[in-house]
Amino acid sequence: MTASIVVLVSGSGTTLQALIDACADPGYGVHLAAVGADRDGIEGLARAERAGIPTFVLRVADYPSRADWDEALATRVAAYDPSLVVLAGFMKLTGEAFLARFGGRTVNTHPALSPSFPGMHGVRDALEHGVRVTGCTLFVVDAGVDTGPIVAQRAIEVRDDDTEQTLHERIKAVEREVLVDAVGRMVRDGFTVEGRRVRLGRTPTGR
Ligand code: GAR
Repeated sequence: MTASIVVLVSGSGTTLQALIDACADPGYGVHLAAVGADRDGIEGLARAERAGIPTFVLRVADYPSRADWDEALATRVAAYDPSLVVLAGFMKLTGEAFLARFGGRTVNTHPALSPSFPGMHGVRDALEHGVRVTGCTLFVVDAGVDTGPIVAQRAIEVRDDDTEQTLHERIKAVEREVLVDAVGRMVRDGFTVEGRRVRLGRTPTGR
């Protein structure tokens, strides 16, 4: 049976779209079971609906506490029994309950070269710092902010006339490729996390 993923989004969902398109090909070997969001009315949810993928929305404001929301999110995602959870522009930190269930098998994509420029404004912070090279990072989510073990990275040159928007668009084009490639390999071939090192594919001992 094809292994499943659940994707969580907060915005326009162009990264999600790349996964929707990839998963539409049976040769990719990944089933996109559901798309979840922390807010209504976003293009990311509309993309999933157009593709006939089940969606759900859990808003922090609808729960008594952040921890309750986190627990509800974990329960909802677990209902789809995913082998991997993908945060694709999901602008919330997952908490203890979520990581207790999905730690080690949740990945996030960040629009900067970790460990530089973590947080919500990775593109702007890199531009303001004046770096000549930035990029994107796919990592296994841990309890920190964009600190988890790195699965894949790709560098992108900063141009003199770049704005936050032009730079982010170039980064996102690369992020989509990196995500589709790495998620496919992680789901199809497995992966291991040892300390900070992530290895794709099964180990020679078959673990
Ligand atoms: C991507 O660049 C992703 O790295 C970023 O949001 C964008 C999502 O775009 N995520 C973060 O900054 C998370 N800290 P999309 O909604 O078009 O897929």
